[in-house]
Amino acid sequence: MEQLRFDGRVAVVTGAGGGLGKAYALLLASRGAKVVVNDLGGGRDGSGKSTFADAVVQEIKSKGGEAVADYNSVVDGEKIIKTAIDKFGRVDIIINNAGILRDKSFPKMSEQDWDLIQAVHVKGAFKTTQAAWEIFRKQKYGRIIMTSSNAGLFGNFGQANYSTAKMGLVGLMNTLAIEGAKYNIKVNTIVPTAASRLTEDILPPEMFKAMKPELIAPVVAYMAHESFPDTGSVVDSTLGFATKMHLVRSEGAVLKKKPADPVTIESVKEAWPQVVNMNNAKHKEKLAEVTVELVQKLQVSARYS
Ligand code: NAI
Repeated sequence: MEQLRFDGRVAVVTGAGGGLGKAYALLLASRGAKVVVNDLGGGRDGSGKSTFADAVVQEIKSKGGEAVADYNSVVDGEKIIKTAIDKFGRVDIIINNAGILRDKSFPKMSEQDWDLIQAVHVKGAFKTTQAAWEIFRKQKYGRIIMTSSNAGLFGNFGQANYSTAKMGLVGLMNTLAIEGAKYNIKVNTIVPTAASRLTEDILPPEMFKAMKPELIAPVVAYMAHESFPDTGSVVDSTLGFATKMHLVRSEGAVLKKKPADPVTIESVKEAWPQVVNMNNAKHKEKLAEVTVELVQKLQVSARYS
């Protein structure tokens, strides 16, 4: 297969000073993208600042690539996009990857733990993406990646704040995929599991060694490529494996026997096994499909009652 390249493209990778973001930045740069290596350089809980994005930029440059370091927080996303425009004159790709953890069991979670997580993950992706949105619309081209987590999709003890934020990003993707469709702006979500400082005390040591960010970077790079076909997809990847995830709806049930009957708590209980029967569950691409199906089901039930 012909090599997939990013020549002429400018990519912003947030939180690219280490972990997954660094692997994304290195791979994109090695394939011709000019990369803004953004990283606030804080600790894993978001405190402090340092300049470790410089080392990533040096590594890219030493291999003949082009990159610039940016030390703004993603909550000032417009400044990161300004760096891309000032340095490279354009922006084509945003990988919203920056992230921190403030894990606490729910009763112990402070409002500050809550707010900081929403700020970095959700507001950061909002600010960075919105700052580039008009540029993407005008040039009729944009590739945006959100970063979610299995902690959001499945829940995880001690991560109420993080789970909320990570599912919030899936919601943001869903709407931006719709709003960006006619401008060739594709918005997708990666759900990574990789060895990084965020997971070093969570993953068993043997798994930690194997779960290299470099195994996920090609998936994210393809999702950021011009030829990527999907928008609005959630892709889970680890250990050189990738799989798509989406919501499905059961066939559902009409909650009364005859149209004139009332819906009662008892009629709901009676219909419940059918409400939750997932045997013929299906994914719906659009809300309109759900509405059409609902109207059909209610009409059919009225006809035969
Ligand atoms: P990491 O800690 O190595 O990378 C996150 C980077 O984001 C750090 O370099 C940090 O300095 C930077 N950052 C934090 N706050 C920032 C801010 N306000 N502005 C700019 N940069 C900021 O961790 P990792 O694992 O590489 O995480 C990358 C993303 O993947 C995060 O969004 C994380 O939540 C997500 N993720 C990671 C998983 C894993 O298994 N490693 C699992 C699921 C999701």
